[in-house]
Amino acid sequence: MKIWAHRGCSYACPENTLQAFKMACQYPITGIELDIQLTKDCKIVVIHDETVDRTTDGTGEVRSFTLEELKKLKINVPTSKPGEPDYTQIPTIEEVFELVKPYCLKNGTLINIELKNSQIRYEGMEDMILETVRKWGLEDYIVYSSFNPESVRLLKEKNASVKTGILATPVSECLSFAETCPVDALHPNIKKIDVENLSSKTNLPVRAWNTSNFEPFYPDTRKIEIQNPEELKMSGITDIFTNVPEKYL
Ligand code: G3P
Ligand code: CA
Repeated sequence: MKIWAHRGCSYACPENTLQAFKMACQYPITGIELDIQLTKDCKIVVIHDETVDRTTDGTGEVRSFTLEELKKLKINVPTSKPGEPDYTQIPTIEEVFELVKPYCLKNGTLINIELKNSQIRYEGMEDMILETVRKWGLEDYIVYSSFNPESVRLLKEKNASVKTGILATPVSECLSFAETCPVDALHPNIKKIDVENLSSKTNLPVRAWNTSNFEPFYPDTRKIEIQNPEELKMSGITDIFTNVPEKYL
């Protein structure tokens, strides 16, 4: 079973922060997963929600802030030493690349970039992220995914060599899309493997993700129930996105 750090080590650290990605990169995982949105001035930032309300001390839509304004918002982080800052900021994708690139080159760590463009379309987001990845020379280490099938289709049209994963809740929906469009992996909800003998129906990796009901995010300390990797494998899952890669390893 391949292990991906979902929004970084997002049970131990605030999700989608440099701290969460730094911790994840210390482990022999397959890769990290992160979410991107665009600011008002068209900068790519790493944050899951369309608004800043849940994860920062601010309120409002990400797209209503310039990057400079967004950087003033605080995200509380755990500290271990006196004098260490107790907050961080929403990172840009380039800040994450700067942190993670050495691990990509040294350990082969992959980065799954989820384009959060199914609620807000963010015109031009595909070109922007492809160009940023090219600028950083990280093409071989990126998997793009989205719940917006048109975006996944567009990424491949723009560059046939990129690796993509189609996100949907039931795996049957991922499979249907894979029949109509070239895609490199299926990314379903871990609880929605609704196809019998899945491994006989596809050769593609099946990378399953959890929801916060089963895997809470920092600072929620509810206990996480580790699922049996053998049972997941039997259902056709090849990889998992987990908030606790440290526990699965
Ligand atoms: O990419 C897998 C998973 O992250 C999709 O769901 O809501 O956690 O972004 P979400
Ligand atoms: Ca995601």
